[in-house]
Amino acid sequence: MKQVKPEQALVHKYPEWVILIVACAEDGTPNVMPAGWGMICSGDPLLVAVAIAFDRHTHRCIEETGEFIFAWAGAHQARLVKHCGSTSGAEEDKFEALQIPTAPAAVLDLPLLAEAAINLECKLRDRMKTGDHTIFVGEVVAAHLPDKPTATLLNFGGKFASGAPIDLPE
Ligand SMILES: Cc1cc2nc3c(=O)[nH]c(=O)nc-3n(C[C@H](O)[C@H](O)[C@H](O)COP(=O)(O)O)c2cc1C
Repeated sequence: MKQVKPEQALVHKYPEWVILIVACAEDGTPNVMPAGWGMICSGDPLLVAVAIAFDRHTHRCIEETGEFIFAWAGAHQARLVKHCGSTSGAEEDKFEALQIPTAPAAVLDLPLLAEAAINLECKLRDRMKTGDHTIFVGEVVAAHLPDKPTATLLNFGGKFASGAPIDLPE
């Protein structure tokens, strides 16, 4: 073993899956941002958590509305992830700019990402401020798969890669 700086060690945790968080500003304009720091954090009830930096537009949206979509990006969505991860919804309507295909949600007043591998509708259940992020915990109130299921998730590790193909249940 050798001791290294924490940032040197963390490089070795990649690749990680990419989550897409959809949330609306109070004026009703939807926004989407990619997040690597997302996880399932309870099975029953089903809860998911995502760490979002204080200055993100998405942070403001979730604080204001108390709801979000937690979607796993498919391997084919690298371009969308790259664009949405380098622009802010405070300055651009990303759905409009990229013509992102959407589908209606069942419970929440938010668009689903029609081409994501999995969409979970989440109501804000809890939040915890960390050093420079807030961990938002969402209770899953509905789940959706695309008509044509996505066989691979998008992984990010400095550059984009697709994960190993998975056997999809019928
Ligand atoms: C692959 C990837 C993973 C990211 N992970 C996170 C994350 O976990 N938390 C976060 O706050 N920002 C993360 N970001 C940065 C935000 O997506 C980026 O700052 C985005 O422009 C914020 O958009 P918004 O201002 O519209 O909310 C990530 C970006 C990329 C490309």
